[in-house]
Amino acid sequence: MSGLVIRQSGPADGSALTALYPAAFPEENLLCVVAALLEPGQPALSLVAVRDGAVAGHVIFTACEIEGSDDGDNKIALLAPLAVAPAHQWKGIGRALVEAGMERLRDTQIAVVCVLGDPGYYGRLGFAPETAIAPPYPLPAAWRDAWQSRTLIDKAQAPRGRLLVPFPWQDPALWGP
Ligand SMILES: CC(C)(COP(=O)(O)OP(=O)(O)OC[C@H]1O[C@@H](n2cnc3c(N)ncnc32)[C@H](O)[C@@H]1OP(=O)(O)O)[C@@H](O)C(=O)NCCC(=O)NCCS
Repeated sequence: MSGLVIRQSGPADGSALTALYPAAFPEENLLCVVAALLEPGQPALSLVAVRDGAVAGHVIFTACEIEGSDDGDNKIALLAPLAVAPAHQWKGIGRALVEAGMERLRDTQIAVVCVLGDPGYYGRLGFAPETAIAPPYPLPAAWRDAWQSRTLIDKAQAPRGRLLVPFPWQDPALWGP
């Protein structure tokens, strides 16, 4: 997409993200979890989409583990949150952020990217309902199709089991209505 730059976020993007999240999610407060995920040492890939010099979107992919598996099998990432500023929505920025993240994760040997979100949206981005990897907390039955994944390897080789998430995501309130 012309004029769009996707790059890793940095401390200088803090105020843009503080404005972006309440605008994209007026009914949710995700700033605490975003700030915790961006703390140094967190296993997160954080990308911003910049258009005309301003941050128009943001996504985080967090490295997670599968309960009880050896380190070598822990090649899962959680995609969340994904936010595009209202004035820039439906112009391909969300898709560009997700694809840029998937490319970078492929280089780090991530095998599967999980997401809890609208299947009407993520289905367009190649995600499908996930049943072999269980979410970290039980989900309401109505959300079953919202737990999705996209594999970066042969699906038959993908890890199975319950997802263990790092501390910013260890809050059941983030996983329920
Ligand atoms: C949802 C969101 C991230 C999508 O980003 P975006 O840049 O507006 O979406 P894109 O332009 O990349 O859209 C990609 C595709 O999804 C479609 N699409 C966009 N928003 C959609 C939605 N809410 N529901 C269903 N499909 C959607 C587009 O038409 C496009 O389809 P196509 O390429 O087949 O034509 C963005 O609108 C947003 O931040 N919304 C508010 C916050 C939010 O709900 N985030 C949650 C993600 S679970």
